[in-house]
Amino acid sequence: MSTFRSFAKLNLHLEVAGRRADGYHELRTLFSTIDLADELEIELTAGGVTLETGRADLPAGRENLVVRAAEAFLAAVGGGVGARIRLLKRIPVGGGLGGGSANAATTLRGLALMTGSGPSEAELERIARSLGADVPFFLHGGLALGLGRGDEIRPLPDLHDPLELWLALPSYSVSTAEAFRAFPAERARAEPSRRVAALLAGGSIESAEGPIGENDLEAAVFGLRPELGALYTQLVRSRARVVRMSGSGSTLFAVFEDPDVARAAGIGLPPGTAWFPVRTLGRAEWHRASGYGAAERGG
Ligand code: C5P
Repeated sequence: MSTFRSFAKLNLHLEVAGRRADGYHELRTLFSTIDLADELEIELTAGGVTLETGRADLPAGRENLVVRAAEAFLAAVGGGVGARIRLLKRIPVGGGLGGGSANAATTLRGLALMTGSGPSEAELERIARSLGADVPFFLHGGLALGLGRGDEIRPLPDLHDPLELWLALPSYSVSTAEAFRAFPAERARAEPSRRVAALLAGGSIESAEGPIGENDLEAAVFGLRPELGALYTQLVRSRARVVRMSGSGSTLFAVFEDPDVARAAGIGLPPGTAWFPVRTLGRAEWHRASGYGAAERGG
């Protein structure tokens, strides 16, 4: 049996380039791993896939991406092996932190390591994309640009200094499909922002206006969920240097100059809102802490 850790992400920047013929939206987004993780215990068996989550609100069947990832992997290696998987959930569900997608990618990487003779890297990417637009990022970790549906990953070198961020997790979630449906087509950006253009041209994140940018979905999601817009305003007024929504929400993240001010900002948040600090993880640290073995060089 092997244990792997499955780290969450934030979208430090997210721009929408437009709606595609397949109904998805073309994105240019900046992903970063953060130090908030689920745990997956994987045991190889003679056949079939079983998942235990120990929680009634977490599906253990094919609705769970872990099961679909394991089945797709095992089909790709041609049978003769199965997996028994236990998921210990810590990443809040439905918050835009990518927990389910992270679990799927961890399942793919974990099974590839454990069986020793997995599909090629390109095949893993293909399987990851078929599971969801966010899944491929979690095969890479660290800092990366996501293009296309967010599933074409360009890994970037680590930040010089990890970011210390505070997360505000409301008690409700936002549906990704609904968030994108609410995005007004006329707000699409034909041209990449200066930040993304600089990164695409090979510039460093430090020279590309810094890592935290905008999120084009904020206005649409705040329209769907006015209480989330109110939470955003409350955090801005509590002297946060910057407040952003991650992905399609509902998680907001904030940067503060002073940790005491940050802690104080947590007082008086709406009931049921979790408030805690996280930091970004570089690629080598992510790789090691995930349980994937010797560190891979990032960048
Ligand atoms: O790929 P995933 O299942 O996470 O996406 C959920 C939904 O979010 C999609 O069905 C689509 O409606 C929307 N979406 C989108 N553009 C993206 C990613 C997701 O419109 N790049």
